[in-house]
Amino acid sequence: MTPQEKVAVISGKKDPGSIAALTCYDYPMAKLLDEAGVDILLVGDSLGMVVLGFPDTTHVTLAHILHHLEAVARAKPNALVIADLPINTYHTPAQALETAKTLAAAGADAVKLEGGVRQAEKVRVITAAGIPVCGHLGMLPQRVIEEGGYHKKGKTPQQTRDILDGAKALIEAGAFAIVLESVTPAAAAEITAAISVPTIGIGCGEATCDGEIAVVTDLLGSYPWFVPPFAKPETDLASATTQAAKKYIARVRSSI
Ligand code: KIV
Repeated sequence: MTPQEKVAVISGKKDPGSIAALTCYDYPMAKLLDEAGVDILLVGDSLGMVVLGFPDTTHVTLAHILHHLEAVARAKPNALVIADLPINTYHTPAQALETAKTLAAAGADAVKLEGGVRQAEKVRVITAAGIPVCGHLGMLPQRVIEEGGYHKKGKTPQQTRDILDGAKALIEAGAFAIVLESVTPAAAAEITAAISVPTIGIGCGEATCDGEIAVVTDLLGSYPWFVPPFAKPETDLASATTQAAKKYIARVRSSI
């Protein structure tokens, strides 16, 4: 079964639209999100920021991803488990294949890499080895240093064309889905309509892609020190944690 079919089956849809994806970095969260019915669990390199305390994803190593991927895989989720190829682990097609094989052996059903036309050959060799690949276009967090920050993409017709060209090259090479990050709503909708695989958006506006992905700490309100403007927290775990810890401290201090 291809990931698209798996996502279609998991999401109960013949056409895998409305994909609900979340990042996930550990065993209990994988159990909970899977039980809730999430379609895709992404062991994303965002873990460098929201779990490991690095300033951005450029510090994430293969060992970091493997450590968290193995924990997620131990939950044996029904959801499709995708793992990020971290920065500096896919400079060449051969290195990309080696990294993807390592991630697949650790429990990833599929891998994700950032970038467009220049990554097509890497997508081709990984998919030829039987490992499904999800592309990642638009704002590319692994390039935050070169780009001098996180900038919205698809603001000009040329930028939109570049993303579309990248998407088409990745799809031609075998990519089964494309994450679009911080792309203007109009450009995201245009790209979604123009390509043959599902787009999964983050920071691209409402109903502009075939699915949506969120960083789980943004959904849960558990990482209050940096909340992207597009985040829609459904709860406030940071406050709940502080309150619980304060109650615990008060109880211990009053009883000893
Ligand atoms: O690492 C990550 O969390 C991601 C999402 C932002 C799509 O790549």
